[in-house]
Amino acid sequence: MCGIVGYIGKSSASPILLDGLRRLEYRGYDSAGLATIDGGRIETRKCKGRIQALADLVKENAAAGHVGISHTRWATHGQPNDVNAHPHFDASGRLALVHNGVIENYQALRAPLVEAGHKFRSQTDTEILAHLIGNLYDEAGGEHSKTRLLEAVRGALKQVIGTYGIAVMHLDVPDALVGARRGSPLSVGLGKGENFLSSDPQAVIAYSQEAIFLKDYDVAVVERDGFQIGTVEGGVAGSYEVTKVDFTSDDVKLGDYPHYMLKEIFEQPHAVRDALRGRLSVEDAGARLGGIDMTPQELREVDRVIITGCGTAYHSGLVGEYLIESLAHLPCEVEFASEFRYRNMPMDKDTLVFAVSQSGETIDTLAAVRESLRKGHRTLGICNNVASTIARECGAGVYMHAGPEIGVAATKSFTSQLTIFTLIALLLGRIRHLSNSDGLKIIKELQAIPEKIERVLEQSDRIKEIAAKYAGAKGMLFMGRQFNYPVALEGALKMKEITYIQCEGHPSAELKHGFIALVEPDMPSVFITPDDAMYDSNINSIEQVKARQGPVIAVGTEGRRDLAKIADDVIYVPPCADYLSPLLTVVPLQLLSYHTAVHLGRDVDKPRNLAKSVTVE
Ligand code: G6P
Repeated sequence: MCGIVGYIGKSSASPILLDGLRRLEYRGYDSAGLATIDGGRIETRKCKGRIQALADLVKENAAAGHVGISHTRWATHGQPNDVNAHPHFDASGRLALVHNGVIENYQALRAPLVEAGHKFRSQTDTEILAHLIGNLYDEAGGEHSKTRLLEAVRGALKQVIGTYGIAVMHLDVPDALVGARRGSPLSVGLGKGENFLSSDPQAVIAYSQEAIFLKDYDVAVVERDGFQIGTVEGGVAGSYEVTKVDFTSDDVKLGDYPHYMLKEIFEQPHAVRDALRGRLSVEDAGARLGGIDMTPQELREVDRVIITGCGTAYHSGLVGEYLIESLAHLPCEVEFASEFRYRNMPMDKDTLVFAVSQSGETIDTLAAVRESLRKGHRTLGICNNVASTIARECGAGVYMHAGPEIGVAATKSFTSQLTIFTLIALLLGRIRHLSNSDGLKIIKELQAIPEKIERVLEQSDRIKEIAAKYAGAKGMLFMGRQFNYPVALEGALKMKEITYIQCEGHPSAELKHGFIALVEPDMPSVFITPDDAMYDSNINSIEQVKARQGPVIAVGTEGRRDLAKIADDVIYVPPCADYLSPLLTVVPLQLLSYHTAVHLGRDVDKPRNLAKSVTVE
């Protein structure tokens, strides 16, 4: 979703800003822009479309200067076009601002300014912020200074209802940038003789490996050789921490892969190993998850688990539900984060809540976390991004350690989350009824998974052929049962996200209750049917599809040659315990979506309309 990069230092700002925007490109956007202070002028370039278009504009007509702000916009208010692209300006044209988030009361704030003669150029909610701050700055009078700018920012933000991450610069205060956040991430990146503002430190990883993640209502003044952090209300911020960014610019390089999505699919054996590292204890025949910060007695008192998240993270929670119920015998429920706070589910004091989010910034999940914490429930984060807002606000949880995930379609974060749910189920189970030997068996099975994923990945070329065969389909149905029902949902989500083919995921046996009406020769069905307790019942559903001339692609277990007799195409995964099968069966579905999208010429890593991290409601 929208990205912010700000720079102040000794180097030329525009190449750094463009490089930063490129590193945020994967998050999804529809227009981009930048502004620099070049001597006595503000130079602005902005346009609809890709960052390359912006780079071409800058090339044609250089925007020089050593201080600047930039933005990628994912439209919420007003179409994606050149005018609505950020930066936006105040009435004087001397103040430029970029903004992530939504200003909910922008119309109410705009009315008095329009009456006073302010001309608004865009249809965005953002432009009001630039006018408000500029107006307060001008009204304050006196010497131009960073304090005067800071106070104007504070004064404006006090009037705002909504969410924001902003970067502001003023022609009359060319030696400072001001940033602030509420509900939308912003960090200060620290360099030598140069400093940065960014919505994600990954944007400036090539220049800065130290970041301060601002908290809600923090305001930062960033200069070439220093920074100050205070609050919107006034005064200095209580405390802040300098965080070492734990990946390098190499981690976010594509290497020999044509797309990040393929790279990340192939990184899954590694991601699963990293999620397990140091967390399996043969001595306890169980799992050790220090980050959840709960004593065995507290874990024992848990009588119900609620999991919440969005998109792929929600699907991993659905597998988590099966895992926790079957391995730990605890009631477990999964709720879309966007529904969590509106549903108002009855939860008792021993309910444990898990919020799952790769980015740790998804606003719906964050809102669910806040609602859960407000009600006093112990709420743990399962996040990939260290020091992300959800991880920080939960205060405890389990980090995924999957490394940066750039492709918009989540892949390695899903298998990493499944691994973590297995560890959680093992931990909760061992405190209850799971025996020592049960625990050891689970550990052994888990340790074998990365190598089994490698065996699935070896079939990428064969899956590519299958993808080409069905790429012209008008739609696809995905079906599975029990542990693999959520995998069917995830398979359908992956396919529609990146190929734009209409897809549905269902429990296999629901077929006859409705969507069998869709089965026809150009509507392939993908069955996830490993050799588990549900095998025969899945075969039954496959027969029902075949009887209606529906093509069938099956994901089955090595050795079940009988599948090949009824399915048109079969992709085999190695045998494993039922409860771990999603870790293997999802991989062919990711590859099937990937190869189909490439075959159709889709923009795999940046599918239309989607954003990697959705920071608006
Ligand atoms: C967006 C992405 C999905 C992702 C979801 C949750 O919708 O397009 O791929 O699964 O957000 O993201 P999170 O970072 O919270 O896991």
